[in-house]
Amino acid sequence: MVWISIDRSRKTSLKEQIISQLRASILNGERKAGEPLPSTRQLALDLQVSRNILLEAYDQLTAEGYLEGKRGRGTFVAEGALLARSETPAAPIAPLVETKKPDIINFRSGVPALDLFPRRKWSQLAQQVLAYTPSRDFGYDSPEGRFELRSAIAKYVYRVRGVRCSPEQVLITSGATQAITLVAKLCARTGEPFVLEDPITNDIQTIFAAHGARLVPLPVDEAGIDPSELTRGGDCGSVYVTPSHQYPLGSILPIQRRVQLIEYARRTSNYIIEDDYDSEFRYEGDPIPSLQGLDPNVVIYLGTFSKILSPALRIGYMILPLPLIERCRQLKWFSDLHTPSLEQLILARFLEEGHLERHIRQMKKVYKRRRDAVRGLFTRTFEDDVRISGDSTGLHLIAEFVDTEFTDSIIRRLYDAGVFVQPVRIHSADGRGHGNKLIIGYGNLQEQELAEGIDRIRSVLADIRRQRQTR
Ligand SMILES: Cc1ncc(COP(=O)(O)O)c(C=O)c1O
Repeated sequence: MVWISIDRSRKTSLKEQIISQLRASILNGERKAGEPLPSTRQLALDLQVSRNILLEAYDQLTAEGYLEGKRGRGTFVAEGALLARSETPAAPIAPLVETKKPDIINFRSGVPALDLFPRRKWSQLAQQVLAYTPSRDFGYDSPEGRFELRSAIAKYVYRVRGVRCSPEQVLITSGATQAITLVAKLCARTGEPFVLEDPITNDIQTIFAAHGARLVPLPVDEAGIDPSELTRGGDCGSVYVTPSHQYPLGSILPIQRRVQLIEYARRTSNYIIEDDYDSEFRYEGDPIPSLQGLDPNVVIYLGTFSKILSPALRIGYMILPLPLIERCRQLKWFSDLHTPSLEQLILARFLEEGHLERHIRQMKKVYKRRRDAVRGLFTRTFEDDVRISGDSTGLHLIAEFVDTEFTDSIIRRLYDAGVFVQPVRIHSADGRGHGNKLIIGYGNLQEQELAEGIDRIRSVLADIRRQRQTR
């Protein structure tokens, strides 16, 4: 059953809303050729709209070829209207509408607690930087970024992540996203293979595809990707991984697979790109040392301050093997010259004076409480119908439902009920896998909001179950 949700507050007419949802559900295969549609009388009752609207909507879709009427038997989905997914991944579901509703509970992943940004310390340091930075530093700067910040980062990543590098190997970027784009320009040549975890964020797939790489999706199991698949395939190109907390599924790549990856890169002269986006927040056991520490010559390491401080800063960094430094400096220069110098200087002081690690220690306690709350709420609410995983690190976890497939229309219904949540499916290479798993970002939600959001999910799923039973 495909649900149609009507929003009477929208400017779009009811007829248009019904037509566009039916059209989309046929194109994307949710409604299959030959499937009967409910009678206009029945659907009018269900949706509480006039039957004329439905007659007009069915007529329109019949005229467009999506539906066909069979005399005396009703209306059916026509043959040949299913559009296979294009190779280039589609944009994620409604990423920009999520914040439009004022009371929405937003389970978007990767957002830290925005109200706990260390404003006071940051503004003190900003004042100092503005007051004492010499005028010459207000001019154009070098593409690799400020030495003060690169040197503070080199010390920090060694201490916290076991990354081995000198400040010369650190290049400051506008968030990890720009680092990913630079990697695509460095390593993903047109038509050549490039290995990505499957699933991995839709954005990352889009960036590499846009640079002409032939994407080779490698499925993620309970322990991440299995590099022996690469060994069998000869040279499959460079490999992009999130080994400390796979995005989105949350697995941790064990040492055996890390060693295999390094051996593969050495043997085929490719690079491993290690995206270490949120591993500072590890709640069980010790932090997992970086992959880069195993062999700094074959790993490009990417880090970001978006999760440990704020995405609004737009500051990330990459740690490069020596032969890539000059080329990457040039690419950064021709991309945006350099990342804003004054913010870099503030951040450098924040790190050097130990505020970052203090902030991370405090935030870890907050996030652990939120993580425990989400886990408890899901288990109490859905009992054996849900399995939680990927929750030992980071700002999100995976809620896997036993018998619910989170189609676009269910996600839309959840949104209408005041919950923004994304299924893992939108990040899988074929747009279909992992349909029963939701990504639950909890970093920016208070405990009462978490409870309210999970209750809204319960209520929508219960409604859907009831409606299915009465059909
Ligand atoms: C896996 C992964 N890598 C990289 C990023 C990019 O982060 P940013 O560009 O904000 O540093 C994200 C954002 O959420 C992410 O989920």
